[in-house]
Amino acid sequence: MCGIVGYIGMHRAADYLVNGLSKLEYRGYDSAGIAVLENNKIRVEKCVGRLDALRTKLGNNIPEGNIGIGHTRWATHGRPSDLNAHPHVAGKFAIVHNGIIENYLKLKEELLAKGHEFTSETDTEVVAHLLEDYYEGDFEEAVKKVLRVIRGSYALAFMCEDQPDMIICTKKDNPLVIGLGDGENFIASDIPAIINETRRTFIMSDGEIATVTPDGVWIQDINGVPISKKVFIVSWNAEAAEKSGYDHFMLKEINEQPKAIRDTVSGRINLEEKNIAFPELCWTEDEMKEINKIFIVACGTAYHAGIVGKYYLEQLARIPVEVDIASEFRYRSPLVDGNSLTIVISQSGETSDTLAALREAKRLGARTLAVTNVVGSSIAREADQVVYTYAGPEIAVASTKAYTTQLLAMLMLSIYVARLRNTLDKRTIAGLVTALANLPNAVEQTLKHTETIKGLAEKYSPCNDVFFLGRSLDYAVALEGALKLKEISYIHAEAYAAGELKHGTLALLVPGVPVIVLATQEDIYDKTISNLQEVKAREAEVLAIGFEGDSSLENYADHVVYIPKTDKYLAPMLSVVPLQLFAYHAALVRGCDVDKPRNLAKSVTVE
Ligand code: G6P
Repeated sequence: MCGIVGYIGMHRAADYLVNGLSKLEYRGYDSAGIAVLENNKIRVEKCVGRLDALRTKLGNNIPEGNIGIGHTRWATHGRPSDLNAHPHVAGKFAIVHNGIIENYLKLKEELLAKGHEFTSETDTEVVAHLLEDYYEGDFEEAVKKVLRVIRGSYALAFMCEDQPDMIICTKKDNPLVIGLGDGENFIASDIPAIINETRRTFIMSDGEIATVTPDGVWIQDINGVPISKKVFIVSWNAEAAEKSGYDHFMLKEINEQPKAIRDTVSGRINLEEKNIAFPELCWTEDEMKEINKIFIVACGTAYHAGIVGKYYLEQLARIPVEVDIASEFRYRSPLVDGNSLTIVISQSGETSDTLAALREAKRLGARTLAVTNVVGSSIAREADQVVYTYAGPEIAVASTKAYTTQLLAMLMLSIYVARLRNTLDKRTIAGLVTALANLPNAVEQTLKHTETIKGLAEKYSPCNDVFFLGRSLDYAVALEGALKLKEISYIHAEAYAAGELKHGTLALLVPGVPVIVLATQEDIYDKTISNLQEVKAREAEVLAIGFEGDSSLENYADHVVYIPKTDKYLAPMLSVVPLQLFAYHAALVRGCDVDKPRNLAKSVTVE
């Protein structure tokens, strides 16, 4: 995920900028750059690669100015390259940006028509050109005008050659902090970048515009109304700050899910028209109607996202779907042809088996589409079409926010395909779009049950076996819940389709064994409850996950964790959250290395 830093004071800005960016390296990035005001002229140095590449580029020719902004980029719009790296410059302005400018295409068209020349493929560059366009001598006013026209999410820092004594910064749905020094001030997207300089900070809120000078910080809203903020004293040490105060990356990433979901739906749901759009896809209705079969191919957690995707595509778009483990698909002579579509799902976009499966599908003449989290990855480059998830970099080996955003991408894709194939009526689509818009809040509500889940995880952590049950989409989520628990706590865990239990596994259910039952799918709810009763009759301990308001679950289960009521298709993105937290806390109690479980790797680039 991108990182922002800024410095204004009496020292050489470049030193702080590069050092501050190095503290944000853990977030993952593919290019880096700085802009410094040197003799009242903006000097930009940026390049693709790690910070060391930037250091080498600078060599001994380090910019001397005392005001500057810097950035580490994690590509979203446009591949990693020198030109796409931030800062971006237009006229007298340099800017850095985290987030996504949703309406950049329209703005870019307008700016091109006015004669602006663009040098990058990014969404960000429009902001620099807009500033240049609106500027009439008042830097703050120009920034406010820009904020009135851009849509999307952002943390932004701006510099202007005419104002060598100020940096302006602002944010919406992306973090930004200002570090308060003595005769100098700092800007950063995350506390690790400033913790070595100061612990006194302003944590910026959405809509606040800060004018930062060496001697002070002036904050106002877009209408010029002054805002007074309390100084927040950071109590963490530098190491904790790398994880933004969380003990582990996995916990941080679980808690980042509302934002990851917000970023992934951003620009793809239209609340006014109650519709889904994928501007990056170019399918006609006729092309979509030609597709008679879909293969979904992936590994690990992404494979589980594929199983959910099968339910979505079959039920909403009415196309038959086969889901394959990539290492099986590539060697099983799949019956793929030109009328089939192969969707590969991969967080990293580099998993060797998934990449090989994609190549095999292409060799057999299939159309291909990648769902991936990494722009410019091998899988993204080789697939015919790409749908990106915007989860940001995932560092913990156990996948969490990548999984939820993969489900989200598959659901939005299924609605989109259903619309092209006329298999869903407008009212149903409108209902799903409204539910999708509420999803980040619902995940936030679900995260509030952390303490309850922690207690349950602690209670059951000494167990040798845990079973996960569900039907339909609940079964697909059960698979992921079991994988999470196995991966990081080393407890043996198995997921079963609830109706299949009686065909063998019931023999393993003895008194006291924990069974996690997901019961969110209303059309087969009664069947699931019957299976739950079968489990209870063997005196197993049942932990149920169901919708708020379904108090009847308490009659059957020993414990119930509630998730907010939502559409059945969105339930997996909520019900998986307690399972992630359960695995995390069970692993913690058992003293496991949560972020780096034994024998496992984040990205598997071998067969
Ligand atoms: C590894 C990781 C899993 C991940 C799988 C597929 O096994 O440990 O968390 O789900 O690879 O990775 P991908 O990057 O292709 O989604």
